[in-house]
Amino acid sequence: MPTSEILPLRDEQDVARARQAVRARMQELQFSLVDQTKLVTAASELARNAVIYGKGGDMTIEVALVNERTAIRLTFEDHGPGIADMEAAMTDGWTSGNGLGMGLPGAKRLVNEFHIESTPGKGTRVQIARWK
Ligand SMILES: Nc1ncnc2c1ncn2[C@@H]1O[C@H](COP(=O)(O)OP(=O)(O)OP(=O)(O)O)[C@@H](O)[C@H]1O
Ligand SMILES: [Mg+2]
Repeated sequence: MPTSEILPLRDEQDVARARQAVRARMQELQFSLVDQTKLVTAASELARNAVIYGKGGDMTIEVALVNERTAIRLTFEDHGPGIADMEAAMTDGWTSGNGLGMGLPGAKRLVNEFHIESTPGKGTRVQIARWK
């Protein structure tokens, strides 16, 4: 099995594939069901944001070691409009569209590591990890 895998995110079907890929990799590594569900849920939100707001992008899956713990690290990258007000975007209930505004803050709570960087006009990159 490759340690790194990159998947396109263009539409809802790709979001479903991304979820499946994360789950499969976590099952191989014998992550608990709770861990699987948490990371897959976070991945789903970030993948959908990349499709809806980022106008498409990709997701990279990597296996890593963090303090000797097996970790899955996911990177979501798009070259869409970016996020002008990061503080607002990370607030529960804030949406610029028709969402619930829970994707980013919710995803952050489901993982051990969460980094987001965005440049207006250039795009957005979110990196998350969950470890055993
Ligand atoms: N990849 C992205 N590119 C540009 N803007 C983004 C991106 N991801 C999120 N945003 C902005 O941040 C806001 C908050 O995102 P979040 O996922 O928390 O909520 P939502 O997508 O609006 O609703 P929900 O995810 O709950 O359905 C979005 O409404 C959008 O304005
Ligand atoms: Mg969202």
